[in-house]
Amino acid sequence: MKIQTQEISTRILDEKDVQLFVKRIDLTHEFISGNKWYKLKYNLLEAKRNSYNTLLTFGGAYSNHILATSVLANENGFKSIGIIRGERCAVLNPTLKLAEEHGMQLHYVNRKEYQSKQTSKFLSVLKNKFGDFYLIPEGGSNKFALKGTAEIITKNDSQDYICCSVGTGTTLAGIINSSSFKQNIIGFPAIKGVTELEKEIKSITTKSNWQLNNNFCFGGYAKTNSLLINFINTFNKNQLIPLDAIYTGKMMFGILELIAKDYFPKGSSILAIHTGGLQGNKGMNQRFGFNLP
Ligand SMILES: Cc1ncc(COP(=O)(O)O)c(C=O)c1O
Repeated sequence: MKIQTQEISTRILDEKDVQLFVKRIDLTHEFISGNKWYKLKYNLLEAKRNSYNTLLTFGGAYSNHILATSVLANENGFKSIGIIRGERCAVLNPTLKLAEEHGMQLHYVNRKEYQSKQTSKFLSVLKNKFGDFYLIPEGGSNKFALKGTAEIITKNDSQDYICCSVGTGTTLAGIINSSSFKQNIIGFPAIKGVTELEKEIKSITTKSNWQLNNNFCFGGYAKTNSLLINFINTFNKNQLIPLDAIYTGKMMFGILELIAKDYFPKGSSILAIHTGGLQGNKGMNQRFGFNLP
C-alpha cells in the first residue's frame, strides 16, 4: 500500500526553518482508518489462523476502534460483537449506527461491569452468551497491534522527530520500536494523567528516544474548546487536511505551538502521523453543534 506524505507549508515553518510533514495513514480506508488498520492487521490474521468466525471487542459509544472492527469483520466474513460502555440510546449516534449497519451486534454494559471486562468471570459470561470468539482488547491494543503499528513508519521516514497522538500508547510504542536511535519520538496524550501511560510504553518498547508531552490534552479525553475547534477548521482550510478533535487535532495544535516556541532546532524535520479518527467528528458535530470536517 502506498501511503502519502504531505508537506505542510505555513509562514511559521519558514520563519523557524523547520519542515513539517504529515503521514496520511488516515487514508488507508474510510473506516479502518489510520492506526486502526495497523492495530487490527495481525489480529485479523491471528483470528483467521485459529479458525474463529466471530470478533468481539470493547469500546465507548464513539469509539473509532468499535467502528473499525465492525467494518473489518464485515469485509472479512466474520461476525462481530461490540461490548459498549453505557446504555443504549433511543437514537444511535453515527459511530454505533454505522457499526450496526456493518453487522456488529451491540451489547451494552454498565460502567462497573465494563471495568471488569478483562476478568475471566466476565469473559466466561460473554462466552456463554455469544459462543466462542476472538477477543480484541479495548482500543485493539495487544501484542499483535504492537507488531502492526511498528509498520507505520519505514526507513524512508527519516525525519528528526516523529509525532503521534497517544491513547493507550500502543501506536506510539510500535513507532518507537521501528524508529532509528537518532530519531526523537514525541507522543501527545489525548488523556490527562500520563504516569501509567509512561510505564506501559516503557514496558513494551526497546528504546528510550521518546517522551510524552501532556500540555496539549485540552483538559482530558474528548474535552475540547473553541480554540481547538477553530484551529482544526483553519488547518483544514489552509492545508486541506481534516483532523479529528480527540486525537490528531490536539497533536497538530501541540506541534505548531512547539514550533512557535522554538522547541525544534533550526533545520530540523518533523513527521506527524495522521492516525485517523475522523469518523468521530460526526458525533461531535451532532452533540455539540460544531462544524468539524
Ligand atoms: C484516531 C486515533 N489516534 C490515536 C489513537 C491512539 O492510539 P493508541 O491507543 O494506540 O495510543 C487512537 C486510539 O486508538 C485513535 O483512535
